[in-house]
Amino acid sequence: MLISFEGIDGCGKSTQIQLLKDYFDKKGKQVVVFREPGGSAISEQIRSILLSSDADIHPVSELLLFSAARAQLISEKVEPALKESKIVILDRFYDSTTAYQGFGRESVPTEKIQAINAIASLGNTPDLTFYLKISWEESKKRTAHLEEDRMEKAGKDFFERVISGYDFLSKSEERFIEIDASQSINAIHETILMNLPQG
Ligand code: ADP
Ligand code: TYD
Repeated sequence: MLISFEGIDGCGKSTQIQLLKDYFDKKGKQVVVFREPGGSAISEQIRSILLSSDADIHPVSELLLFSAARAQLISEKVEPALKESKIVILDRFYDSTTAYQGFGRESVPTEKIQAINAIASLGNTPDLTFYLKISWEESKKRTAHLEEDRMEKAGKDFFERVISGYDFLSKSEERFIEIDASQSINAIHETILMNLPQG
């Protein structure tokens, strides 16, 4: 089973993923967690180019670098884990590319982004995607104590477009479970558990 978590920076993905992992661990299920971009040696190197540098990266280069990091993670880590029937939890997956590089950066039209996503994910799609929805203002409050990475330096207009991208996906993709992430950590966790497939 492949479960992805999505939403803008600071929406609570890491917090909820840890709680869900603990839940599966207690049930004796085998579960692995990877973050995007990253999760494998090559993908972590690409992550540092994308997030840590001050380089002026062209929107199409950015799109292809996120996609390159993804293909490497999927082939090296995700597909082997799925073959062993493990539960794979992804802290971001290709919906981030649609929302950030498609709607946010407006790099290329959505249909083209989705074609690239299918290539970069080697045809793998999530069974379930939890979309933790918060406003840009709430995101800013929650991440105020952290240093901004290259993506987070984009302003409010960019993030409003990213949110509209996630809203578009939430309407068009049946696997999307949208959760009001301004609720308490516990309430969100309970909603996530309620939406897991039985068994
Ligand atoms: P993400 O992985 O999506 O960037 P985090 O899980 O790291 O988000 O959460 C960002 C910050 O917000 C952390 O300081 C975390 O403790 C806090 N946080 C997470 N969930 C909630 C919530 N439901 N309500 C208030 N604060 C939260
Ligand atoms: P990270 O610190 O991992 O995420 P978060 O801030 O949500 O905890 O940063 C990843 C950043 O990269 C985040 O700003 C979203 C962005 N991103 C894209 O723009 N496109 C993508 O395809 C992915 C996977 C991430």
